[in-house]
Amino acid sequence: MSVIRDAGLNITAQCGGCAACATCHVYVEDEWTSKLKPVSDVEDAMLDIAEERQENSRLSCQVKLTEDLDGLTVRLAPGSGF
Ligand code: FES
Repeated sequence: MSVIRDAGLNITAQCGGCAACATCHVYVEDEWTSKLKPVSDVEDAMLDIAEERQENSRLSCQVKLTEDLDGLTVRLAPGSGF
């Protein structure tokens, strides 16, 4: 989430990364989904209230970037931009 915001893209991220708003919802490109840590119960609950949840939905604030994720590609989901 912070990488998206720091890049100047329109992402609401209203709660600032506390997994409490789902306004940082993104879709992870297929080739990357298996490389991310599993969705936690808290993230799963928030994704349930996000607009248009898909199999590859994640809260971007819950994705910890590591070197293994260099090149990670996501798309902003509806309701995440302003
Ligand atoms: S910024 Fe609110 S859930 Fe991610």
